[in-house]
Amino acid sequence: MDPNAPIGFFDSGLGGLTVWRETVELLPVEDTIYLADSANAPYGEKDPAHILELARSNTRWLLGEGCKLIVVACNTATTNAIAQLRAEFPIPFIGIEPAIKPAALRSGTGKIGVLATRGTLASALFATTTRNHAADTQILEQEGEGLVAMIEAGHADSPQMRRQLKRLLDPLIRSGIDHLVLGCTHYPLLRPLLAELLPPGIEVVDCGAPVARQARAVLQQHDGLREAGREGSHRLYTNGDPEIMQRVVRTLGREVPVLRLPV
Ligand code: DGL
Repeated sequence: MDPNAPIGFFDSGLGGLTVWRETVELLPVEDTIYLADSANAPYGEKDPAHILELARSNTRWLLGEGCKLIVVACNTATTNAIAQLRAEFPIPFIGIEPAIKPAALRSGTGKIGVLATRGTLASALFATTTRNHAADTQILEQEGEGLVAMIEAGHADSPQMRRQLKRLLDPLIRSGIDHLVLGCTHYPLLRPLLAELLPPGIEVVDCGAPVARQARAVLQQHDGLREAGREGSHRLYTNGDPEIMQRVVRTLGREVPVLRLPV
């Protein structure tokens, strides 16, 4: 592995930026390339074969840019495609899955909520993880209907988002969950609204920071960590609206120009 090559990230759009930000904070000297496939969002409503095809095409593009490692910064693509990607491409992949295990271990009420896309909730990998790590915990699944589309349209902080989120969360709150797992990388962008809508006893869990640590561990294993010396440089690409992405990058505390890719 060439330590000076960039780390690649892809997502169906803006959500994976939450994972990218954690990684850049943990590994500040690494160069990164991020691909937001917003033109094809949401992935969560597509069938598994279509999600795999999109994941392959994003991977090919990132390989063409010379990436040393690919972070599949999307729960839907991970749960539906990562096994095939690992089998087909000669590069390490890091995936992201809903953080059911830590939430189940920490739960006092024995009830946790999982907010995720339909594609993630319906996947075989999600079923296996739930069975293996949370057999004694009651898992209340909630499809995040409409949330990704609203975030992609630049409405993460809007009255219609607040209404929809309240509608989705109320049944979970009433049933006594004490953890809410964010099973889609777009949803950490809703943390300010979640903090308003959830009662204080419910802890919100996402996987951005553990994925960043996993990326560091895999780079270490492959002698692929870049030497300290200068700040990493970043290239962020979208085939959607660069202005909306730019705003999200800013809300994440970063000033990196967003580049437009043809669809
Ligand atoms: N950010 C994604 C995820 O983590 C994809 C959501 C979607 O496109 O439906 O699942």
